[in-house]
Amino acid sequence: MFNHVFSLLFIAQCIQNAKSETWEKWIPPFINRTDLLCPSDHCTRDPTLYVTTKNDCCTCWAEPSWKFDPLTYDLVLEYTRRGGTAQIIGDTTVNSKLVHNNGFLSHLPTNVCSFVNIVEIEVTYNRILSIGNISCLHILDTLDLSHNSIDSIGNSTFKYLPLLRVLRLTHNGITTMEPYALAGTTMSIFLADLSFNNMTEIDLSNLIPENRFCRYDFSSNKIVEIVNEQNFQIDVDKIYHGGFVNLDSNDITQWFDFRDLGIDDINILGKVMQFGFSLQNMKWTCDCRMEPFLELSQDVLKRIWRDYYNVTCWDPPEYRGVSITDFFMGGDKLDLLVCNKSSADKCPKECYCFYQPKNRRTVVNCTGVGLLELPKYVPEGDNLTLLFDENDIEFLEYREYFNRSSVISLSKNKLHTISSHAIESIDSNAVFDLSDNNMYELPRDFQTFDPCITKLGKIKISCGCGDHWLIDWVKNKRAEQCKNTTEIICFIGNRYVSTIDLDLGNFCNNDSNLTFLNILFGIIIALLLGLFGVLYTFRYELFILKRRFMNQKSTKICPLLKYDVFISFDDNDTELRFWVMKRLASYLEGACYKTFIPCRDGQFADIREEALINNINICKNYIVILSDKYHTEDTFWTTVEWKYIWHSFKQNKERQIIIINYHQLDPSEVREEKLKAFIRVGTDVDFSNRKHHLFKEIHDRLGSAILTNNGLKCANTKFIPKSLHSQDMFMLDI
Ligand SMILES: *[C@@H]1O[C@H](CO)[C@@H](O)[C@H](O)[C@H]1NC(C)=O
Ligand SMILES: *[C@@H]1O[C@H](CO)[C@@H](O)[C@H](O)[C@H]1NC(C)=O
Ligand SMILES: *[C@@H]1O[C@H](CO)[C@@H](O)[C@H](O)[C@H]1NC(C)=O
Ligand SMILES: *[C@@H]1O[C@H](CO)[C@@H](O)[C@H](O)[C@H]1NC(C)=O
Ligand SMILES: *[C@@H]1O[C@H](CO)[C@@H](O)[C@H](O)[C@H]1NC(C)=O
Ligand SMILES: *[C@@H]1O[C@H](CO)[C@@H](O)[C@H](O)[C@H]1NC(C)=O
Ligand SMILES: *[C@@H]1O[C@H](CO)[C@@H](O)[C@H](O)[C@H]1NC(C)=O
Ligand SMILES: *[C@@H]1O[C@H](CO)[C@@H](O)[C@H](O)[C@H]1NC(C)=O
Ligand SMILES: *[C@@H]1O[C@H](CO)[C@@H](O)[C@H](O)[C@H]1NC(C)=O
Ligand SMILES: *[C@@H]1O[C@H](CO)[C@@H](O)[C@H](O)[C@H]1NC(C)=O
Repeated sequence: MFNHVFSLLFIAQCIQNAKSETWEKWIPPFINRTDLLCPSDHCTRDPTLYVTTKNDCCTCWAEPSWKFDPLTYDLVLEYTRRGGTAQIIGDTTVNSKLVHNNGFLSHLPTNVCSFVNIVEIEVTYNRILSIGNISCLHILDTLDLSHNSIDSIGNSTFKYLPLLRVLRLTHNGITTMEPYALAGTTMSIFLADLSFNNMTEIDLSNLIPENRFCRYDFSSNKIVEIVNEQNFQIDVDKIYHGGFVNLDSNDITQWFDFRDLGIDDINILGKVMQFGFSLQNMKWTCDCRMEPFLELSQDVLKRIWRDYYNVTCWDPPEYRGVSITDFFMGGDKLDLLVCNKSSADKCPKECYCFYQPKNRRTVVNCTGVGLLELPKYVPEGDNLTLLFDENDIEFLEYREYFNRSSVISLSKNKLHTISSHAIESIDSNAVFDLSDNNMYELPRDFQTFDPCITKLGKIKISCGCGDHWLIDWVKNKRAEQCKNTTEIICFIGNRYVSTIDLDLGNFCNNDSNLTFLNILFGIIIALLLGLFGVLYTFRYELFILKRRFMNQKSTKICPLLKYDVFISFDDNDTELRFWVMKRLASYLEGACYKTFIPCRDGQFADIREEALINNINICKNYIVILSDKYHTEDTFWTTVEWKYIWHSFKQNKERQIIIINYHQLDPSEVREEKLKAFIRVGTDVDFSNRKHHLFKEIHDRLGSAILTNNGLKCANTKFIPKSLHSQDMFMLDI
């Protein structure tokens, strides 16, 4: 814009010089002033030349009418003392000018207030140290004190000069300018040039005049910052038409913190958007401070961008020379505008922390710096992004900063233990990445998280019945959809199952478990059944064995016993009967045993079965001679005898049965179970070895004879040939 203005000024001056310009009266709507003439042709005739309105144009190009009046009186100056003191000589009643360049004035003439009709003062290249009190010059229009030594401007210096329109104070070394020194309700300076001074700060009130203006130039000072000492507020109900403010070539590096300037709502700046601020040729730091303004105004800036917005970065070095427009023109790169946080801002010393206004977050980047535990502290701020990936952290402990974090990334660590307290403090909407760790358990507090937001990766844990919340969690949050971010794999039984494929039914009473237990149980049952079957099948054998080994040595004597041995055999077999009577019985009796042989000793008068039972009961032992017909349908009595013999044997522990396998029968040839058992167990006496050992074996088995009187007699008579027994033997032999 200003380039246009300059070229136009040049043209206008040519035209003016040629006196061909038509000046027409212009009454500014914002001040009570009627003496201004505007070059109407150029401010109205060709509007396309101007980007601005007629008022804007006239604010820059209007001249007071007295400039065209040849009667404007030039005052004369007279030095009265050394040291630059002078006084004015001349007519005080007409509009007058004081022009005194390249002089020695140290202050304005002492009697200046006597000349209240002065409209213009031009005192350049003098030695004026201060402007002094010029409030008396009510109609002063132009004040040019460039190239003097003025060092400050107070807030009342121009306050009472309502018509002051042009102010030039370049090259003075001004260091301070009070708030409201240039702009205020009573002033209406159109043009202020304070370039090439020594100001280090400038007040916002002097940059944003309420009244329309043309150009304020503060370029080439040493301004470091813009301040707002008197809490200047932009009035939202007023229209700020603005003008052009040049701040080029100062020392501002940090973008304006509008909050510090009392502009809480940055949108208010829209009010002054018609202003042009030139901020060129400064070493701008392109950081987070710049971002909010650019973000807010990027649309406007795109539209109204002109050269005087040519703001280029100096810091950080990677953006040196980059225009700030590059951050929003052609793609949004405003996220590059960040502010680093140092250790002083509580950034852990290994880490890299920055505030990124574009994403409204503070990033704590500790990626791959070898952390062994979570940092104790991180910078202040609410929307933290914690990047702790690729470290060696083992415990997820509680940290005060968890509830301020919206991203917590802990992937590729060595986490195995997670505290509930930590989980509780993490917002359930936080992006929480725990993938690639060594977890084997999950605290139940995880159920408030969404598996689609919380990234757990593929976790293999051993699930127990207490973990069935996992199934609810996975089902309710529809984790299936985000299987690739979170998948919990349970080790159940002996295999890995994704919780997605599990349901509550098979979680605890798991199939594989059931099968295993069933098989185990089945095997045990089968074994037991088999065992019982075997035990049942061989019950007699077992009984026989037990008796043989446990009670063989029993010496208990029952007084009821009358016989040592009952011999049961098939007496229809003549040969056998002969052997029993002649050989066995006589041998036994010779050995002092009392024998009972039913066919010999039985009394036929008795009811046979009862007598048999009695007889069996009074015999201590039993010899059963097993022949092929011993236990068949044909041999009724031996069958009955066997029944009672077994019964007696079973009831009385001390009794023995000696089976003599007379016909050398196999177990398979014997039908009766108990008899068969005796043969199987091998306790039968083999008849084939009768020559040598048969009788001896029988004798051994029978043990000692019962000690009765008869027995004693027998014992006595054993070695006496003429005994009762030998007689018996003889009888039997017959
Ligand atoms: C101009 O002067 C009139 C009266 O003299 C006053 O009412 C009005 O407010 C003034 N306007 C401005 C802009 O100062
Ligand atoms: C300046 O001079 C005027 C009179 O011309 C006076 O009223 C005012 O108080 C003076 N201001 C200062 C700051 O001395
Ligand atoms: C002018 O400055 C003085 C002190 O320097 C201060 O007390 C006064 O309030 C200021 N006035 C305005 C209008 O800023
Ligand atoms: C401005 O300040 C610098 C030092 O900061 C000094 O050298 C220079 O002379 C000052 N300018 C004026 C005009 O006083
Ligand atoms: C923008 O500013 C840089 C340095 O501040 C300067 O070199 C360049 O010429 C300027 N561009 C325009 C178009 O003014
Ligand atoms: C922030 O720190 C990084 C790395 O130290 C550096 O490259 C960058 O320039 C710094 N940014 C700012 C704005 O200071
Ligand atoms: C927090 O930061 C995230 C980026 O990490 C951003 O998307 C979100 O808008 C921020 N939230 C707030 C409230 O600033
Ligand atoms: C964090 O740091 C790592 C390594 O220094 C880098 O690769 C990554 O881009 C950084 N992330 C962010 C968001 O700055
Ligand atoms: C975080 O927790 C602390 C203490 O537990 C509490 O004082 C603070 O208000 C919490 N902050 C947020 C953002 O919830
Ligand atoms: C996860 O799966 C979704 C859809 O199934 C897909 O869009 C997404 O890219 C996948 N993400 C990764 C990291 O593989």
